Amino acid sequence: MINLSQLSIHKIELLFEKSLKLKANKSEVLSQARFRGQTAALLFFEPSTRTRFSFESACARAGVHPMVLDGGVGTSLEKGETITDTILNIEAMRPLFFIIRCDNNLDLEIVASTVSVPVINAGWGLRGHPTQALLDCLSLFEKWQNFQEKKILFIGDVRHSRVVASHFELAQILGYKIGICAPTAFLPTVTMPLSFTHFQNLSQGLEWADAVMALRVQKERHDGSIFNVDEYRKNYGLNPNHLKHLRKNVWIMHPGPINYGIEMEQSVLADKRSLVLKQVENGVFLREAIIRNLLEE
Ligand code: CP
Repeated sequence: MINLSQLSIHKIELLFEKSLKLKANKSEVLSQARFRGQTAALLFFEPSTRTRFSFESACARAGVHPMVLDGGVGTSLEKGETITDTILNIEAMRPLFFIIRCDNNLDLEIVASTVSVPVINAGWGLRGHPTQALLDCLSLFEKWQNFQEKKILFIGDVRHSRVVASHFELAQILGYKIGICAPTAFLPTVTMPLSFTHFQNLSQGLEWADAVMALRVQKERHDGSIFNVDEYRKNYGLNPNHLKHLRKNVWIMHPGPINYGIEMEQSVLADKRSLVLKQVENGVFLREAIIRNLLEE
């Protein structure tokens, strides 16, 4: 799973149903004994909390032992070994599959065509974060059951968001509409694969949306100073005043991690319409469903 474009709506709905069965603890349990002693290689060359821990948890629940490389500290990367050699050497230890987070300098499609086992993209530079987009939509699937005519507003740093890149793929399959509310410096610089509605005014965007996803301002990916915190908070930060005017069935989301006081005030997290921690919870079951599908195949 490097991107989502090869998935059909039917496959995604089956994946959501399987995830929700696992969440409700109703799924037929795959024999864990079958995979005793088997491993999965989790290679995180960029920092992560939610994705890494939820994949570790999902591996454990599916009965596969996760071998985790976390940022490379203490590995032979520090002695100059390349990422490609690291992957080839770990492949020689015969993991059942790879889960990889990396920046744009590694080409995950080349990795996937080089190694002999499946590769799951756990966040690849600006290219995509497919399991995040899927878990976001799983959280909305629980509320909506289908996505036709639904509207998701993305607020903020769309230009540097691999999550939004994956949502543009997923929206084409599931049929939801995308709106963007962002300062010019955060708007996409490339042509997006799907048309979207651009809102300059956050209140208008909130009025339009059925769900709103605030995005992390990704300072580590900015070239120079394109961002003024006070301006951003004033024009794009979600605050209690927005919540007063927000319809009661509009869901509030964030892929995390959150810069409180910039993308949203801390109190927004506690609002009844906030799905932020549900997204994290659902991430475990969505990733477990993906892993179980791989193992069953
Ligand atoms: N949403 C997400 O990818 O969070 P982490 O970077 O903590 O994994």
